[in-house]
Amino acid sequence: MPIAEAKVSAMDRGFLFGDGAYEVIPVYSRRPFRLAEHLARLRQTLDGIRLADPLGAAEWARLIGEIVARNAGEDQSVYLQITRGADTRRNHAFPARVTPTVYIMSEPLLTPPPAQREQGIATISAPDIRWLRCDLKTISLLANCLLRQQAVEAGCIETILFRDGCMTEGAASNIFAVKGGVLLAPPKDHLMLPGITYDVVLELAAAHGLPAEVRPVAEAEARGADELWMTSSTKEVLPIVLLDGRPVGTGRPGPVFAAMYAWYQDFKRTVMRAGE
Ligand code: PDD
Repeated sequence: MPIAEAKVSAMDRGFLFGDGAYEVIPVYSRRPFRLAEHLARLRQTLDGIRLADPLGAAEWARLIGEIVARNAGEDQSVYLQITRGADTRRNHAFPARVTPTVYIMSEPLLTPPPAQREQGIATISAPDIRWLRCDLKTISLLANCLLRQQAVEAGCIETILFRDGCMTEGAASNIFAVKGGVLLAPPKDHLMLPGITYDVVLELAAAHGLPAEVRPVAEAEARGADELWMTSSTKEVLPIVLLDGRPVGTGRPGPVFAAMYAWYQDFKRTVMRAGE
């Protein structure tokens, strides 16, 4: 339906409490990329917030296929969210009986402007002030919004988050470091979102013989890295050349990034567009 006709109750717990789960699925040549993995992550989030999946994987796949078919554009970004539904009164505890609200939309998938890849992007850092279940993709994104806004107001693209002396991720992305030709990735735990693009980058590194270490990355290591990258479904892989006004490595996108970007684009042409 036209977006202006879509209606959600003012008593919806997504609106009142941020009580819900979401996913962003990139679609290349009308084929959702890593759909099974996105749906598995959705399931983990729903389990983590104790919300029964109202549809199931087969019905999700059908609905996503329908929204892709009904929207213009070969490359799309499908957004879906499930909230715990609308109650009759505001009450933090779950309602006894409630129907979850399901919302799906598609937007054009816009890859970042070439200048960001060619020149690299500027970032700031901030303490990771989020809760301790950052592995769940919930719609409660106020901390992420505040942190991303800090970057924007500093004329930057992303905020890199540090907690207890280690790098966790970005406000809406995962962050990788490169030191001495080795790719460093923070481990998937409760402090970061298990990114689908993160998995792709580690798979491409393994396939092309780039050494990688998945382990905690100390703040000093991140700040002293030769290269930093950010990754997400909508940004793909971007080189970070400034952190808090100081150059990362040489202050130019590095050679390991150039290799990964080429592998990623090749992978996109051959695999993502085939829907694999
Ligand atoms: N965000 N970490 C956070 C906090 C994120 O919000 C995202 C993505 C990622 C990267 O995950 P993936 O590679 O699966 O996109 C990591 C999406 C794109 C968003 O909220 O719009």
